[in-house]
Amino acid sequence: MRDFLRRLPKAELHLHIEGSLEPELMFSLAERNGIRLPYGSVEEVRAAYDFADLQSFLDLYYQGMSVLRTAEDFHDLAMDYFRRASAEGVVHVEMHFDPQAHLARGVELPVVMEGLSRARRQAWRELGVSSAMILAFLRDRPAEEAMQVLESAAPYWEMLDAVGLDSAEQGNPPEKFAAVFRFARELGIPRVAHAGEEGPPAYIREALDLLDVCRIDHGVRCLEDPTLVARLRDERVVLTVCPLSNVRLRVVERMADHPLPQLLEAGLTLTLNSDDPAYFGGGMLQNFAACHEAFGWSKETFTGLARNALEAAFMSDERRQELLHRLAETR
Ligand code: ADE
Ligand code: ZN
Repeated sequence: MRDFLRRLPKAELHLHIEGSLEPELMFSLAERNGIRLPYGSVEEVRAAYDFADLQSFLDLYYQGMSVLRTAEDFHDLAMDYFRRASAEGVVHVEMHFDPQAHLARGVELPVVMEGLSRARRQAWRELGVSSAMILAFLRDRPAEEAMQVLESAAPYWEMLDAVGLDSAEQGNPPEKFAAVFRFARELGIPRVAHAGEEGPPAYIREALDLLDVCRIDHGVRCLEDPTLVARLRDERVVLTVCPLSNVRLRVVERMADHPLPQLLEAGLTLTLNSDDPAYFGGGMLQNFAACHEAFGWSKETFTGLARNALEAAFMSDERRQELLHRLAETR
């Protein structure tokens, strides 16, 4: 089964590229940039990844990315990830990135864009992995700041496949970003948002109604609201579910308690994703394998989930048809 799950052509729709920073690369970038880390070894870093909730993870996530300073750093970060993902059978990666987290450290958007763009071209050329860019706004920062980021990203609007909304969810409802997302819509940029990870089902509704998103990142708490579940099913809203992330951030206690079987049973359009693979114990293959171990799903179920991702991905129709064909051929 693991070989089958590896062979499946997988599209990853929910990945934070900064969350793919493995401790080994964190150390080598720290050394290259003369930055002191509060850890003595790679093992110490991994031992620190014992999270109580989303915020306790975010604290280390923002600290970890402090080693990213130059375009070369962003290039190396993304290439390191593309290589690992490709080895797991990932054929397409949609990367969230957090400009505000870098601006706060004096790293300007062009530095981030140059490094990531170079890695994307190299991944396509050398690995045959296609990719997309999702500029994410930090919801625990002021909406005015998000608006400034979107305005200052004008030279890159054409390169953005979507804008997203991430960081600390509780107390930061989608409503706060209605004007920013309206502007993105006027620019013709698609929209996605994290909602219903730690926050209530009402945030999922708001993301649909006020931000006009085409996908909900996480969304697992929708099950608390049957009317919302019916709407998500009827409108075929895609949920980008991240099972290992939900366990590590204690959204659920154990994989066996994960609501994925109920979400499937409810007829929702689901995809499996890794979120922050360096922090949550594995990439796409580990997430698929963890579902197999916990739920014993059939090959058909996994093929269906992989198909949902290909159908929902930001990619050309030509690329989509090619990958759907490859999926149909995978046994
Ligand atoms: N940023 C990186 N990972 C995140 C997650 N799982 N939820 C919200 N913001 C994030
Ligand atoms: Zn996420």
